[in-house]
Amino acid sequence: MTGTVYLVGAGPGAVDLLTLRAAKFLECADIVFHDALVPQEILLLASKAKKVEVGKRSGQYSTAQNFINKQLADAVRKHKVVVRLKGGDPMLFDRAHEEISYLRKKRVRFEVVPGITAALAASADLGVSLTRRGSARSVAFLTTRTAPGERPNEWIKAALAADTAVIYMGAGEADAIAQALIAAGKPSATPVALVENASLPTVRAFAGTLAQLPTLAARCGGGPVAILLGEVARDSAIIAAWPNEQSSSSPTARATRTGRARSSSS
Ligand SMILES: C[S@@+](CC[C@H](N)C(=O)[O-])C[C@H]1O[C@@H](n2cnc3c(N)ncnc32)[C@H](O)[C@@H]1O
Repeated sequence: MTGTVYLVGAGPGAVDLLTLRAAKFLECADIVFHDALVPQEILLLASKAKKVEVGKRSGQYSTAQNFINKQLADAVRKHKVVVRLKGGDPMLFDRAHEEISYLRKKRVRFEVVPGITAALAASADLGVSLTRRGSARSVAFLTTRTAPGERPNEWIKAALAADTAVIYMGAGEADAIAQALIAAGKPSATPVALVENASLPTVRAFAGTLAQLPTLAARCGGGPVAILLGEVARDSAIIAAWPNEQSSSSPTARATRTGRARSSSS
């Protein structure tokens, strides 16, 4: 048997933000290799599949990428539908390139199913558009992470060049990020907004200035955090000054109804 590997985006966490195509492949999957952050509710859709966790939690358990690549290529010899399930969109900060290169080399069929990336879920929860006509015309998705042996990370240039920057995997390095950006000339009063657990009932948002970034990051509770930087985040600073909404509805419903997500001021 020769199957196909589907690199599927699980979205930011909420099950109903999964695409119909992603749900279809999960339902007929024979085996699912999934990241650690993918919620159980989404894995339950793959009811007949064997589940293998291969995720890489920062600073914790890590399965070597080469081993994941090999597992994917080996699995198509036994299974028709092999799903590689990744948080958000598979093509952003998720080592899809390594997996695709390996599968191409081994002549294994693959298909990519996009997902909603964290930046877009965070923007939706805040009710803040990442672009704004006439003033915010560019958005950079970036990470400050650099693995040993990689070429230097030019993230500062990207963050300075774009009108809006969304920083992935940055909450743990908030101090260094703020210092580096301010030293490179970014005004310390630049608005920032942090969204933790975007799209989930546990979503929290914190807003303030670049100088306050370390303090805001310290208030996050250990969930994944997207950092928005730029004038567009000034809206969320205003939102943050408002009292929290008391509601039993989901964050999505609440944000839609009130035009704001649950937020805290700095
Ligand atoms: C390894 S990257 C994977 C990104 C993923 N491929 C995507 O498109 O969203 C993990 C980072 O994504 C961000 N992230 C993922 N899910 C998130 C969520 N629900 N809320 C906020 N940030 C999230 C965080 O910055 C986290 O550290």
